[in-house]
Amino acid sequence: MRAVTSRAYGPPEVLRIEEVPAPVPSARDVRVRVQASTVTSGDARIRGFRGPRIFWLPLRLTLGLRRPRNPIMGMEFAGVVESVGGAVTRFRVGDAVFGMTMRGANAELVTIREDAAIAAKPANLTNEEAASLPFGAIAALVFLRDVAKLQSGERVLVIGAAGGVGVFAVQLARHFGAHVTAVCSAGSIDLVRSLGAAAVVDRAAEDFTEATHRYDVILDTIGVSDVARCRRVLTPQGRHVFLSFGLAEMLHMAWTALRPGSRVLCGFSGTTLADLRIVGDLAEAGTLRPVIGRRFPLEEAVAAHRHVETGRKRGSLVLTLNDSQGTRTVLFDHTTASSSMNRVDDTSDACARSPARAPVTVPSISDVAPAPGWADPRRR
Ligand SMILES: NC(=O)c1ccc[n+]([C@@H]2O[C@H](COP(=O)([O-])OP(=O)(O)OC[C@H]3O[C@@H](n4cnc5c(N)ncnc54)[C@H](OP(=O)(O)O)[C@@H]3O)[C@@H](O)[C@H]2O)c1
Repeated sequence: MRAVTSRAYGPPEVLRIEEVPAPVPSARDVRVRVQASTVTSGDARIRGFRGPRIFWLPLRLTLGLRRPRNPIMGMEFAGVVESVGGAVTRFRVGDAVFGMTMRGANAELVTIREDAAIAAKPANLTNEEAASLPFGAIAALVFLRDVAKLQSGERVLVIGAAGGVGVFAVQLARHFGAHVTAVCSAGSIDLVRSLGAAAVVDRAAEDFTEATHRYDVILDTIGVSDVARCRRVLTPQGRHVFLSFGLAEMLHMAWTALRPGSRVLCGFSGTTLADLRIVGDLAEAGTLRPVIGRRFPLEEAVAAHRHVETGRKRGSLVLTLNDSQGTRTVLFDHTTASSSMNRVDDTSDACARSPARAPVTVPSISDVAPAPGWADPRRR
């Protein structure tokens, strides 16, 4: 099968398109024919091995000490179950699925344990849209819900609002009843407004730390904000949350945990099946909308990674494979034939079946209770 590989850590040019053996599913594994994948900021970080120095050793032990242990790139995927191991009960061949894994999704086939982050593809999303969901939406969910502990009615400022995580953070914060201010460049103002931002700061023209109003949460997805300057615009119980951080932010986190007042918080989002299901349900209900900024064919993975490296990526960058445009798996509905959401665009995917899925109930912030690991005894 064709796959994007990185057999060394380094710049985008280390990537190759290789013919590699198809992964063999073990008893609890599902093998998915990938129809769309993505290149995320996380993929670029792993490829270049960039991250906080303090995590160098644990990350190298996880990913491969001298070179990547699994050479196949890619985290997000959407496609159709091609085969299943003997002990698999959740999926059947032909199921339309989406999900996220640490490595291996930028390939024609990916295997993943059936109890890992793989679920029925939201029926109203194309493969490309479904593949664009897990990384950014789960990160946004975990950081708003568990790290920031966002409450309805609070004011949140999202830095990097047009990026892969930011587009979901704006939508989720709005869904959870917050007042959202988005920080982005001028070209993305209409986009973030359409996602639910009540106010927008053009990052080239304005300095949000000069504002007179205060925020309960500053969610810095990019890791560019200054702790001291942001404290001026945080409420006394405010949370300054970093998705991208280094030793300085971690020291601020430790220091602010010891004194009263606003907090600095850093963390990692992880990927659980429960959270994948939540973001899938929210997408199926129309509450979350994936944003696809660019598409590249699998063969142009180097160019795709170079684009991510510019730091100007909007929403998700899709890698197209097989039937990547695909279809929404909703079958043709004659009663709403004019609705593009109900049209089967390409019959090649029309036979993909949706695995059993509970009726969608859109979670509110109280439904998606914070994970205990992040509990802050001072606030709750
Ligand atoms: N800790 C975790 O568990 C976790 C999980 C997921 C992601 N992350 C990290 O979160 C970061 C963001 O991820 P992402 O996928 O959203 O990245 P991304 O898609 O590459 O973000 C690109 C966006 O960043 C904005 N941007 C670039 N420079 C900026 C600046 N100086 N100030 C404000 N905005 C700026 C750009 O918006 P404009 O062009 O509109 O300005 C662009 O739309 C990455 O570093 C990623 O590794 C961490």
